[in-house]
Amino acid sequence: MDTYLNTGIKEIITEFPEVETILNDYDIGCGPCSVGICLLKDIVSIHQLSVEQEKELMERIAAAVDPGKEHPVPKTRKWSSPAPPKTRRYSPPLQKLVDEHVLIKRWIALIPEFVDALDLESEQGKKRILDGIDMIRSYADKYHHAKEEEILFKYFDETADILKVMHEDHTRARSLVKAMQKALAENDKKTLSESLTAYRELLAEHIRKEDEILYPWMDSQLTDRQVGELFARFARVDQESGIAPETYEGFVRQLEAAFQ
Ligand SMILES: [Fe+2]
Ligand SMILES: [Fe+2]
Repeated sequence: MDTYLNTGIKEIITEFPEVETILNDYDIGCGPCSVGICLLKDIVSIHQLSVEQEKELMERIAAAVDPGKEHPVPKTRKWSSPAPPKTRRYSPPLQKLVDEHVLIKRWIALIPEFVDALDLESEQGKKRILDGIDMIRSYADKYHHAKEEEILFKYFDETADILKVMHEDHTRARSLVKAMQKALAENDKKTLSESLTAYRELLAEHIRKEDEILYPWMDSQLTDRQVGELFARFARVDQESGIAPETYEGFVRQLEAAFQ
């Protein structure tokens, strides 16, 4: 079993498919993850399960990968540590990022209707599409992802699997934006619809991973001094970015009203 702790989760799931079902029981959705390079030991420690849940999960995985044997269950962390609180509270800088996710989630929730209503013929229709792409490029990427990549992630080991996954998601989001811009320039409605839909799926899962897994784990690692420093650095980005969040909130509000 100890060998499996240092094995990539996708590899384990391929060899022992029932492990995916076991992880799902603890809301750990490794199966659909497009990258899946995290090691089993990282997944268990990063999800911050309660002591009892972690012990039970490790016992079930040990039984699945090594059935019919009695073996000591490996410890991934000190089992005497307290269970995480039921209600999640973030430090002020990470709460700010979670709040920014809320506006991005409101926008991606509208994408199915936005796609149905795509109009590449009229000036007004094209303007709406440009505004939608700008919301992704300026607010979600330049304003939000930049805080993560250029500031927050630098406080951690960027070679860690979880951060590689987050960087890959951001890179994929950028390539989808390029595809949207090209499709718009070429009046290619099909590719534009597909890229917007793929962006919606990617970001919904990405934000879920950050809100539920990455940020709580980061908060558990950051010192008070680092939290204060992050808060000040985020505030500076807000002031210097030249991006007004109200503009994007207005865009989302207008769309919500139009699709009601
Ligand atoms: Fe992100
Ligand atoms: Fe984010």
